[in-house]
Order: sequence, then C-alpha cells, then structure tokens
Amino acid sequence: MIFEARIKELRAELDRHNQLYYQDANPEISDTGYDRLFRELEDLEKANPEFADPNSPTQRVGGTPLDSFTTRTHLLPMLSIDDVFEEPELIAFWDRIHKTLEGEKVEFTIEPKIDGVACSLVYQNGELDYALTRGDGASGDDITSNVRTIRSIPLTLKGERVPTLLEVRGEIFMPSKGFAKLNEQRDEQGLQPFANPRNATAGSLKLLDSKEVAKRPLEFLAHGLGAHEGTELESENDYHALLDEFGIRRNHPIWTAQTLEKMLSAIKELDSHRHDIGHGTDGAVIKVVDFGQRETLGFTSRAPRWASAFKYPPEQKETLLKKITIQVGRTGVLTPVAELEPVFVSGTTVSRATLHNQEEIERKDVRIGDTVIVEKAGEIIPSIVQVVLSKRPADAAPYHLPTVLGHQCPSCHGPIEKEEGFVAWRCTNFTCPAQAVTRITHFSARKALDLDGLGESVAIKLVETQLASSPLDLFTLEESTLADLMLDPAKSAEGETISKERRFGEKRTATLLASIERARNNMPMNRWIFAMGISHIGDSSARELSRLHERLSDLANSQIIADLAGLPDFKELSKSKRKKENHPRLAEYHIDDSLGPVAAQNLLAFFKSETGQLISTRLSDLEINPVSDNFAPKPQTEASDEFPLVGKTFVLTGALSAPRSQFKKLIETKGGKVSGSISTKTDYLLAGEGGGSKRTKAESLGVAVINEADLDELLKGA
Ligand code: IVH
Repeated sequence: MIFEARIKELRAELDRHNQLYYQDANPEISDTGYDRLFRELEDLEKANPEFADPNSPTQRVGGTPLDSFTTRTHLLPMLSIDDVFEEPELIAFWDRIHKTLEGEKVEFTIEPKIDGVACSLVYQNGELDYALTRGDGASGDDITSNVRTIRSIPLTLKGERVPTLLEVRGEIFMPSKGFAKLNEQRDEQGLQPFANPRNATAGSLKLLDSKEVAKRPLEFLAHGLGAHEGTELESENDYHALLDEFGIRRNHPIWTAQTLEKMLSAIKELDSHRHDIGHGTDGAVIKVVDFGQRETLGFTSRAPRWASAFKYPPEQKETLLKKITIQVGRTGVLTPVAELEPVFVSGTTVSRATLHNQEEIERKDVRIGDTVIVEKAGEIIPSIVQVVLSKRPADAAPYHLPTVLGHQCPSCHGPIEKEEGFVAWRCTNFTCPAQAVTRITHFSARKALDLDGLGESVAIKLVETQLASSPLDLFTLEESTLADLMLDPAKSAEGETISKERRFGEKRTATLLASIERARNNMPMNRWIFAMGISHIGDSSARELSRLHERLSDLANSQIIADLAGLPDFKELSKSKRKKENHPRLAEYHIDDSLGPVAAQNLLAFFKSETGQLISTRLSDLEINPVSDNFAPKPQTEASDEFPLVGKTFVLTGALSAPRSQFKKLIETKGGKVSGSISTKTDYLLAGEGGGSKRTKAESLGVAVINEADLDELLKGA
C-alpha cells in the first residue's frame, strides 16, 4: 500500500520534528514546513481511515469528548513521599539509610519537587498505551486522550532499546508564563482565573474534551520509574539514560551527593535557583540512586524508605507598609489592601498584599508605617505574616476602616455599612461606579449572559472611556466606537508586559455585538437573573425563580417571592415551622432549597431599590423581557397519562440516537428529572452505545439500566 508507507513516513518525520522542537529545543524546520507535513498526513489519514492510529501526531489536537473518565488499576501502587521540614529530619533520613545499608556507599540525587499533578504513562512495545492520574494510589483516572495532547510527551518510543513495557512516572504542570497567559485569556473571556498553576493543571486534566486540553499550556517531566519489562535497569542513572534516548524530558536541575554535607548544600543551592526554573516547585526530592539498595530499604505502608521530600519554608521578607488603600468589589465589598515598598519574594516583586478585612487588620495589629513580614501563600499570593513590632514608629496609629473613610465609599461617596454577622464593610450604593467593572464582567460571564470577548480588561476600558457605566449600557454600544477601543498591553502575573496596546477591532466587535443580540433575544430568563448579580442569588436560585415565573418582568411583583420573604429565617427555626410546604400558598410550588427567605428578601430589596427600579425601566425601554425556558410552577406530584415520568430521576450516558439535550427535554416535559451523576436516588440509567463507567456504577447500585425502546415503554405508561 503506497499510502500506508507514506503515512508511516510522515508520522515518523513529524514525531522527529516534534522531538527536536519540544525536547531538544533545536528545530530543523520552520512552523510552516511542519504544518505542510502535518496537513499532508491529516489528508491521507482522512482518505484512508483504515490506517488510523491514536498515537499519530495528528491526534495531538484532541479527539471526541468523553462522557466521564474510567478508572484503572496501577501496575504498581503510586506511593507518595514523606515530607520533612527541618534539617534534623534530613539527617535522621540519612542516618536511617546508612544504618540499614551498613558499610555501603550510598549515592543520592537531589531534584526539585514539581508542583503539579502526578501522572503515569504506560508504553507497551514503544507505543503510549494509556496514562493515569495518581488517584488513590491503587487506581487512577484514565486521562490518555488528554495526555496525548501534551506535545512534550512522545507518543511512540524509538531506538534500539525499546522495552516491551515501560511505565514512566512524572509530573504534569503548567509553566508560570503559560499560566499567566491562560489567566489573561480567561479574563478576556469573562471566566474565573485559576488560583495557581497547580489548580490550572488539575482543572485542565479534568476536562472531558481533549480539544480544550490541547489549548492548555501543559508540560510533562519524568521523575520516576514504574513497572517495566524487557529492560535491565540497575539504577536511576540507567533509567535516566533510557529516558534521554527516547527523548522523554526528565526533571532538572539535578544534583548527586555521596556525603551529608553535599546533600544539604545541594538542597540549599536548589532553593536559591528554584524561582528561575520557570515552573512552581515547593521542595527538594532526595532519592537513593541504586535500585538494589532501594529494594533493601523497602517501603512503609505509604512511602518508600529510599526517598524524602524536603519542603522549603516560604521565603519571607521585611518591607515597609506605606499606606492602606481600599478596593471596591462587585458586590460593594470594601477590601483593605496594603501598599508596600516593593520587595523581591519567591521570584517576583511584591508591592501589594490584601489585608482581607478590618478584623484581620485588628487581629494582626497592622498600622501604616509598620515594617511587616511578607510571604507568598502557596508560592503565589502575597500575604502579610506579621508586624515587626520593634520597628514600629512612634506615630503609627491603629487603622479603622470606616473612620478613615468617613463612613463613605471611596469611589462613589455613598454610605457604607457592615452587615450583622459578616466581617466585610460594604458600599450599599448599587450605582457605585467602582462596582461597574465587576458588574459588567459578571454580567458577561459564561454562566451569566456569555458575552464573547467581554472580560475584565475590556470592561475596564468601557468604564474608563465612559462607554458603559452599568451592564445595560452594553445594549446601546455602537459598532464603530467599540472597534476603536484601545486595550491596555497585557501583563503576566509577574507584572511583565506580554503584548502591545491592542485595538479591539472589527472582528471582536462583530462577535461581541452578536452575542449581545443573543443575550437580548435568546438568553433564557434564569441567565438574566443570575447576570444581575443580586446578593444571595446564584445560578440554582435563578433557575428556580425562572421555573416559578414566566417572564423577568413578573419578578418585581411576585406573590411567591413576597410570601417567601415573609417566612421565618430557615436557620433560626425548627424544621416544621420553617417549611415552605406548610405555607398555605407556597406548598403547591414545591420550591427547592436554593430559594429561601434570605434570597427572597434580597430580591425584594433589589426591586424596591433605586437601582432595581432603574433597571426595570431601562429593560422595558430597551424592550428586553427574557422568557423562562423551564416555566412549570406547579409540578405534578403524581404520575398521570400526561406526565408518566413524575417522581422518576434519570441519568443519561453513552451515544444516544439524538443529542442528550433532546432526551433531557423529553423526560422533563413528561414530569421526570435528569441528573448528571448516578446515586441511590437514580431510578433509571438511559444508556446508549458505550458509557462504561456510569453503566458499571448503575449496576453496582442496582439502578435499572434501560435503552431508548424501554424509555418509549415508560412514556406509554407501561
Ligand atoms: S519521586 C514513591 N520526584 O510528589 C514516590 N516525586 O509527595 C516517588 N513529585 O506523587 C516520587 N516532584 O507526583 C518524585 N522530583 C520528584 C517529584 C515528585 C513532584 C510528586 C509526585 C508524588 C508526590 C509525592
């Protein structure tokens, strides 16, 4: 077969270029040269599907989304390492090993502990067969399709010494630069940024759609050996040589030591380098090199005796607290922020740190002019550990937020108050401009009205240029002004500029305006309710509200909300008294727990407030009145011919003959409920082709597994 030969040749060639690019950082061809070969292979594979191969370089872009992850048993348990925090513990580790291996020379390696997600890669005869997370150590999630998208992981191993089985263990992580860029993009898309690179990595690997994972800047470094057959390996050195031969990137930098002094100095040296490595590290891993010695040392129930992890204390620096400024959040929360004399901590310059709230300021007794000790929590977020009292100037006075602010919001001069039982002071003026940016960002977020391309940086500019001061202003934006909007240069988390000043442009304007139109005409009412950012109204309460009301305009004068608001507070009363079920008017609505008296009181307050009134008028002027897509205020409680599925909960899995959403709608209109995961409360698992893990779970819980024909029978009331 002429095509088969060319396909194989192209795969080998692309693999080689991948390795040159990702492992050796020494590319031979240009990006366009690579793309040309890639497209040729893609075309040939499309025309000759019989030669498909999951490990083809074309599969790096991701495949069909999964339903859920299956789990799989590890070939050998994936243990953890015992953490130590003090030098004496390291000396004890050293002594224990030398006692067991009496008289033997022991060599150690010292390398960074990578702050990522552990992963096991299993190669059978040189092909990546599957990849697992650590899970509970005995079995892990099968994340093969996600791992295939990580370009620094070879999908096939080449060379003279390919073993029949090789399990490479290591860490998947996100480099600091890639992390900063990803958060920047998420910001622009109106998505919540990740708290740190490890969360971003874990979150990415949990995605069921590998096409999305392919867009995440993930990398892999090997640090351990799992099961292996068909290769003789005597020591870590042999293993490293094998990894290098296959172009599997391994952890670096790495030190070796045969004396305690050398081991301790390597650990210190690593500490002073680790912020320049380009990814998060929080310790040093020390391992015995020789596999024979490892065997003699053995394991405890949870960790090998031949390894230890030294956790570095977070770096702390002293600096001057110059002043305290106040940040006004979307819901009006006033957060005090310490403005510091810039100081270099854990790899970046820190000039601000949150003080959280007034109580925290009092607890730590922080005063302006104090010298404070700063560290980075989780190596990322700057925080103030304590005040250096010996350096306090005589005139440093205690800080009292409301007094300093004269009981006024620093942004709008509106009144501020502290709610009973809460720690935060907040601005109560709904039209406060400082809240505009965050309100617009929230309004545009994916779970709200999902406005494409309207993240925080765009919202800031819209407010700055006075094109918008509240979310509804978005509906009167003009195409030409929007296209000419100039955005600030993008910055990384370290404050480094990573792009030029950018014009918003025609393309993004068109996308944004299209999604604004979609919000106006097609977004269901629950999204609108959530988008308004009313305190205590999250997406589930918004959905419950839209089940109970047909149109957005029905909320302001809703009897249901008024009745709910009049109920005694849930937490304060015994179960029987607080029940909505016992209310003469509310009972028949079967309102769920997402909507209680507190939420209802907040809604009433909102619609009565000046802003609420303004919003209602604005919406009617704009002729926007979103409709509920789940309006069913009085649910059926007994099955009938019309609603045969009342009281039944379904879970869907596998490939069905129509999109899941259609089955969901069908079941719901017939009185049933559809849930995402199987529990003892599930009545039926509607399973199409495939759908492995849910099927297994249903069977183990004794949940009936049915097919589409069975569902038909149920609908007929059989
Ligand atoms: S060696 C028997 N080396 O830390 C375990 N682990 O606390 C041998 N980790 O789950 C693991 N960097 O995923 C090793 N350089 C490194 C590491 C490392 C990070 C993770 C690893 C493991 C956890 C143990």
